[in-house]
Amino acid sequence: MNTDKHGCFSSSFAQLSPLSAALGVCPRPTWRLAGEVSSTQRRDKVNMEGKGVGSGEMQEVAVIGAGTMGHGIAQEFARSGHRVALHDLRGDVLQGAMARIEINIRACCEAKLIALEDVPAVLGRIRTTADLGEAAAEADFVVEAVAEDLALKQDIFRELDRLCQQHTVLATNTSGLSITRIAAATTRPDRVVGTHFWNPPHLIPLVEVVRGDETSDETTALACRIIERMGKSPVVVHKDVPGFVGNRLQFALLREALAIVEQGIASVADVDTVVKTGFGRRLAVIGPLETADLGGLDVFLAIARYLLPELDCSTEPPALLAQKAQQGKLGSKTGEGFYRWTRAKAQAIIAARDGELMRRLRQCNNGE
Ligand SMILES: NC(=O)c1ccc[n+]([C@@H]2O[C@H](COP(=O)([O-])OP(=O)(O)OC[C@H]3O[C@@H](n4cnc5c(N)ncnc54)[C@H](O)[C@@H]3O)[C@@H](O)[C@H]2O)c1
Repeated sequence: MNTDKHGCFSSSFAQLSPLSAALGVCPRPTWRLAGEVSSTQRRDKVNMEGKGVGSGEMQEVAVIGAGTMGHGIAQEFARSGHRVALHDLRGDVLQGAMARIEINIRACCEAKLIALEDVPAVLGRIRTTADLGEAAAEADFVVEAVAEDLALKQDIFRELDRLCQQHTVLATNTSGLSITRIAAATTRPDRVVGTHFWNPPHLIPLVEVVRGDETSDETTALACRIIERMGKSPVVVHKDVPGFVGNRLQFALLREALAIVEQGIASVADVDTVVKTGFGRRLAVIGPLETADLGGLDVFLAIARYLLPELDCSTEPPALLAQKAQQGKLGSKTGEGFYRWTRAKAQAIIAARDGELMRRLRQCNNGE
């Protein structure tokens, strides 16, 4: 990692990992998923579209927070041809983030998702900095990905509002906090929007684009365009509701899963098996409303009549969840949650998940 004249950490291939060193210098800065237009082609298209909100160009991006989500979001912007300033509070966190990006890229190369010769250019588009002002100064589009804490996010948005150019769009990766309340810390609530990437951001196509009460149509459209240019799938959430769409659906399922275990209807492992080997297999291909249409709405209405009154509708966190948390059984990070975990077991299940996600991405890229 180098430090440039601004005191920024910038990646240099020669000093990055053995992977980067082995890759050498790529004369043409492109990196594409198989079957995708090159990032140079994408950027050329961007260049023709003008500059500022309402135009297509959002070439300079800043990502604030380089943790679980921030490093992957930065990687995705760089892959799609944007220059990215990745900001966090400390140099060692930033170095760790670059190392994680390289691990992601190595896995994607091995899965034949990206061309090896495109990698150095992508890494070269990411610079890291512990100086928020430096990250913000040139940015056209900022994605904040710090911890899920409203006061912290408001502080950062207040600062970004002061430090960024007038046209800059400020986006937050919050999982479900109010976009309107975050935007209220700025003088540009019309140019504040939610861009909710899903974990792992380099492998999940969905990004929920969430409108605050004052988010303009222009800002919403611009966020959608920039996400489409990443090869991802933006979905506009029209109301600033807690949990947006994805987490509302996910937590409805979790509430019922916990109720089934609490009532002794099925074991923890069997609930997971029902989802993984049953309707979960279908969900990646057809959504719940498509499923209803295919099953027949008369059939679904009949089932809804007798089943909905039986489902859990409590508004308190499930007792089983609260009890585990009180006991310090927080899941894989403490070695026990609903299951017992070792580090190796957690790594194996994440590798299996990512392998399947990469297989699906490859299928999509090949138009299958
Ligand atoms: N982890 C997930 O699965 C997931 C999925 C979707 C959305 N999100 C959301 O994304 C956001 C980030 O989550 P995460 O899991 O990446 O968190 P994380 O804790 O892994 O990373 C947060 C990073 O922000 C940095 N940070 C804290 N204060 C800062 C400041 N003042 N300035 C700059 N950097 C600062 C921390 O050093 C850390 O590296 C949250 O809003 C979260 O709800 C998380």
